[in-house]
Amino acid sequence: PGEGPDPGALLAWYDRHARALPWRVPPGAAHRAEPYRVWLSEIMLQQTTVPAVKPYFEAFTTRWPTVEALAAAQDAEVMAAWAGLGYYARARNLLKCARVVAGERGGRFPDSAEGLRELPGIGPYTAGAVAAIAFDRPEPVVDGNVERVMARLYDIDEPLPGAKAEMKARAAELTPRARPGDYAQGVMDLGATICTPRSPACGICPWREPCLARARGTQAERPVPAPK
Ligand code: ADE
Repeated sequence: PGEGPDPGALLAWYDRHARALPWRVPPGAAHRAEPYRVWLSEIMLQQTTVPAVKPYFEAFTTRWPTVEALAAAQDAEVMAAWAGLGYYARARNLLKCARVVAGERGGRFPDSAEGLRELPGIGPYTAGAVAAIAFDRPEPVVDGNVERVMARLYDIDEPLPGAKAEMKARAAELTPRARPGDYAQGVMDLGATICTPRSPACGICPWREPCLARARGTQAERPVPAPK
């Protein structure tokens, strides 16, 4: 401890332990993931778990491999393919967004968070995630996993939801200029596989040394839940 967490240590861990996910290009590959696939996966992952999303992502990208193909689909076909994922407003916005990108932007997604934010169905989280993962922009990407990692690294003792402001600020200040897309995915993977809600595997965590919650033994109590 003393100098704080090093994003480079997280990147080195991600290089060895990145989950193989159908929308992901492995670290070190010569090409980036296609924006269409990153966008589609992030929309699907908003209120749905990784295992539940996988078969839907495969089905969608097999049937509609490009944003132009999706834009040309019938509404009813897309709604039927979405059935089971829930939150059907996501599917309606998905089609709206595909049609704007295909019809008004030549099939190209904006390459910044601000530009992405203007598209239907893309909020601040999704805009940051697509900008970071598809375009390697140094945007903070803060989902529930990342919040938990920040709460523990910095031993944030404020209860939710008030703690979210500091979690977000910490996530933003830690985001590196080097490889921000891999970094974003690495923190999400760390939260999903090591820094889990219960029984985190601190002994094999790349950030075990700088983690304040681990040093103080408070990791099981972070983040602090909202009062009842
Ligand atoms: N959850 C949401 N987006 C994700 C991603 N790109 N990788 C892993 N988990 C995620």
